[in-house]
Amino acid sequence: MQEFWVKSENMKEEIEMDFPTEIIREGKVKVLVPKLKAFVKSPSEYAPSKAPVFYNPIMELNRDIAVLALQVYQSIVDRELSVCEPLAGCGIRGIRFAMEVGGVKEVVINDISAAAFQLASYNVRMNELTERAIVRNEDANFLLGSYGAPRKRFDTIDMDPFGSPVPYLDSAIRALRNGGLLILTATDMAPLCGVHPKACIRKYGGKPLRTEYCHELAVRLLAGSLATTAAKHDMGIKIIFSHSTDHYVRIYAVAKYGAREADENVENLGYVLHCFKCLHREPVKGLFLVEHPEKCGECGSKINVAGPLWLGKLSDGQFCELMRKELKQRAFAQSKKIGKILTLIENEVEAPVAYYVVDKLCGTLDVPVPPIKKIIEALEEAGFRAFLTHFNSKGIRSNASASDMKKLLLEFSEAGW
Ligand SMILES: C[S@@+](CC[C@H](N)C(=O)[O-])C[C@H]1O[C@@H](n2cnc3c(N)ncnc32)[C@H](O)[C@@H]1O
Ligand SMILES: [Zn+2]
Repeated sequence: MQEFWVKSENMKEEIEMDFPTEIIREGKVKVLVPKLKAFVKSPSEYAPSKAPVFYNPIMELNRDIAVLALQVYQSIVDRELSVCEPLAGCGIRGIRFAMEVGGVKEVVINDISAAAFQLASYNVRMNELTERAIVRNEDANFLLGSYGAPRKRFDTIDMDPFGSPVPYLDSAIRALRNGGLLILTATDMAPLCGVHPKACIRKYGGKPLRTEYCHELAVRLLAGSLATTAAKHDMGIKIIFSHSTDHYVRIYAVAKYGAREADENVENLGYVLHCFKCLHREPVKGLFLVEHPEKCGECGSKINVAGPLWLGKLSDGQFCELMRKELKQRAFAQSKKIGKILTLIENEVEAPVAYYVVDKLCGTLDVPVPPIKKIIEALEEAGFRAFLTHFNSKGIRSNASASDMKKLLLEFSEAGW
């Protein structure tokens, strides 16, 4: 096999990898990563999963948001943080935390792959972070297990797996200190969005539904699974931030010890009832949905059920505001896009569960789609609450029922907007 040696500008050391690499810059760091173009035969192939060490440039926005959130969390708790990235790939995320977040005392960067360990170790040295970043080469559950004892636990764990984070939830919860921040990515959108419902039930303990608001259900299913796992350890969670972007969902949860906190979590679990015929949807709180209407109260068609899932808040308004302020201090490549996402999320913090998608509603009525801002104005004029959502550019969260929404859209179509 061909061998590749790389020597960065300020490094005396050479690294020998048996695959092509290149140095990229992201945020304030530079890292050696697999040269992705060398691993795909056609543009349709997903390069990160073909490379011998994982690196995905598309996730830059995800990492930027993580830097913001970690900085805001640090300023709120006002203490030095120990951070763990148990599934690190080339190490870029943990290295950015060590370099870009003030008040980070230590980052443990871990990956089960020997090549990832080698690359991440090199990247830590290249960024002169050996005093603050430790690189490990263990199974994530084994690593987290060794940090499960009091006073050894982490302030923050960022779990960014291939697919589902569920296999690591128990050990992550155990390795998190009281009041710690647990960050989870899930990329297994086919199960979470109801394309493979059995896989979702198996992994997350909740039933998904292939509705137009399935991305919100995905966040709620992930949060529900976390809340249930935390409750087993007598811990409660508060979701301080979450987002659905590109091909993944992500939640930021603060976990607190206490049976009372855990019980409060359970009260935030419930179901969403949905009618595919008339698009009526209805959240129902409570874990034991012993009985629910078989038929839709609006049109008499069959009612479908999603859950159990998290029906509590998906973000905290103040935390979002602080993230927006922090963003202004940063010069991220995608600051503008991040600003838009943060504003939308902050505005929808108090909005009702299960957004409507205007195209879908208009499709059932066979009427043209009016501009979304006009619909929001009309809903507010009619006395309803209405919010845009970051989940979907054609989405509206409202306390108006599906039939109210359709009535309004028909009026729009008749009046000609
Ligand atoms: C999606 S990638 C991580 C990407 C990285 N967090 C980033 O921001 O670039 C998932 C990583 O998990 C690693 N991995 C898979 N199973 C693991 C396990 N059981 N323990 C530790 N690492 C594991 C893989 O080698 C891979 O590098
Ligand atoms: Zn119905």
